[in-house]
Amino acid sequence: MAVSRGDVLKALEGLALPEGGSLVSQDMLRALTIESGVVRFIIEAPDAEQARALEGVRRAAEELVVGLPGVSEAHVLLTAHSEPRAERAAAQGAPARIPGVARIVAIASGKGGVGKSTVSANLAVALAAQGRRVGLLDADIYGPSQPRMMGLSERPSSPDGKVILPLTAHGVTMMSIGLILKERDEAVVWRGAMLTGALQQLLTQVRWGELDVLIVDMPPGTGDIQLTLTQKFAIDGAVIVSTPQDVALLDARKALRAFETMNVPVAGLIENMSTYICPKCGHEEHIFGEGGVRAEAERLALPFLGELPLSLEVRRSGDTGTPIAATESPVAAAYARLARDLVAAGLG
Ligand SMILES: Nc1ncnc2c1ncn2[C@@H]1O[C@H](COP(=O)(O)OP(=O)(O)OP(=O)(O)O)[C@@H](O)[C@H]1O
Ligand SMILES: [Mg+2]
Repeated sequence: MAVSRGDVLKALEGLALPEGGSLVSQDMLRALTIESGVVRFIIEAPDAEQARALEGVRRAAEELVVGLPGVSEAHVLLTAHSEPRAERAAAQGAPARIPGVARIVAIASGKGGVGKSTVSANLAVALAAQGRRVGLLDADIYGPSQPRMMGLSERPSSPDGKVILPLTAHGVTMMSIGLILKERDEAVVWRGAMLTGALQQLLTQVRWGELDVLIVDMPPGTGDIQLTLTQKFAIDGAVIVSTPQDVALLDARKALRAFETMNVPVAGLIENMSTYICPKCGHEEHIFGEGGVRAEAERLALPFLGELPLSLEVRRSGDTGTPIAATESPVAAAYARLARDLVAAGLG
């Protein structure tokens, strides 16, 4: 039987903290996700010292959760809040703008694996090719993809220990938590200091420079990371990616509702893996049926922003660090159109 969020919370309630209470009662649980029996969450301590003291609890929580029926793996990270509380409270008020960044567009989905990272990278490259000043933030702290997709592995430098200098590839200014947490062991060392509101740091400490648009590649689903991002930063639009198969499962609606409750305007829907282009003969086929996401966008009264074909080259180029939008191809043309439409809609 599949494990539920309730099962995990109930188990964790029974795990006593050294100072009394539980992770649940002390509100230390963040970003709990359950996907095919794999449970992930973050334990957030008030500061680095307390985070270190909780290493035993982290391990115990992992063991406890992995022992639950229906759980195959449990990954628990420990983080600390670095900001002073006052600053944090202020940040929870009005969402902040990032100096020099004209707009922030989030690429999101209700479900994982639909192509958010692929669309983010290619759209960023296509916008840059049209002369826009583009930033790309990989906000997926569990499974960062952008270093691979953009072909970057260099560790970003921080000359003064405060400002982080982003990297550039294919005309795009890029930052990913994956570049900072490069190896597993380093990740352990960095946990306290860096995963600490990691996203907030990436957004505020990175010297983005003057950008027309910052594209944020969101993690899957509608969890706490999305919530943090949307509460703290003024997101100008969310683009929801769906595939023809998933649209029937109402995932796009779920994402849409989540953004609505977070007061983020939804810019529209994109259909990814729309048609299949045969690599041998160039023949294009709607293998998953036609027009599903477009029809869903109509039902939801949202703009349909376009469709992107399923193509082996998309995956290959994503795996080798040159997004297909940087090449000459029909898919690149589709991304160029999408980029132009976003600029026309004031979101590029
Ligand atoms: N149009 C496409 N044609 C072929 N392969 C694609 C296409 N779009 C995405 N893929 C491939 O599908 C896989 C998942 O894509 P991607 O990582 O972009 O999804 P995601 O939504 O970001 O996933 P996650 O939810 O895990 O972050 C990748 O291997 C990618 O190369
Ligand atoms: Mg992704």
